[in-house]
Amino acid sequence: MVKTKTDLSFIHRFMPPKDVSGYERAKKRATEGKAFTTFLLLHGTGGNEEDLIPLAYELDKRAAILSPRGKVLENGVAPRFFRRLAEGVFDLEDLKFRTNELADFVIDASKAYGFDLQRIVAVGYSNGANIASSVLLLRPEILSSAIVFRAMVPLVPETLPDLSNKHIFMSSGLYDPIVSRQEAQKLFNLFKNADAKVSLNWQESGHELTMEEIGKAKEWLLQSSPHHHSSFV
Ligand code: MLT
Repeated sequence: MVKTKTDLSFIHRFMPPKDVSGYERAKKRATEGKAFTTFLLLHGTGGNEEDLIPLAYELDKRAAILSPRGKVLENGVAPRFFRRLAEGVFDLEDLKFRTNELADFVIDASKAYGFDLQRIVAVGYSNGANIASSVLLLRPEILSSAIVFRAMVPLVPETLPDLSNKHIFMSSGLYDPIVSRQEAQKLFNLFKNADAKVSLNWQESGHELTMEEIGKAKEWLLQSSPHHHSSFV
């Protein structure tokens, strides 16, 4: 059964693609099922579905946005996408469950809103980057590309998926106190071993995002994401 917008299992925002020639036309195009890119925005610990919307506009104003709020509340207050036992120590059973739950939500949302499942680019920061990486490793069919800021290895799957048609932009901080250089490198190697087209971009920064890397991600999106640059022709 197709879920309606209000039945969808995450609190979320959905914004249809903006079009230079007008919102209404873009909305019509969306409901007609014409191709456009959808950013799946995944916030960091303690964030919400609003956090990354300005970032998405910076990356590409014309893309649609699906932005869920993580369902796990740390200490009863801080939304996350999966449970952790300590900083950097993940509850793997919960992570697997939440990864599948998020992937199923994206599928349901694509039916409810009429966006194309073949053109989803995950954009995740910190905890959101970790669940995006987990989706790539466990449910790769729902993403064509991913931009992950400050990601670490979420889990190592029993069998490596074939990521040969996935484009991944990793952006990591040289002085990140939460994600070590080795940890970022390990995730890069994992993606590489799964044949992904992945690049690891080092920033002169800690865990916080910089404008410079957002510019680099934007450039990357234009150049390397096969579904992206052809979306609006
Ligand atoms: C995580 O728990 O996913 C990472 O430690 C990043 C964070 O949310 O601080």
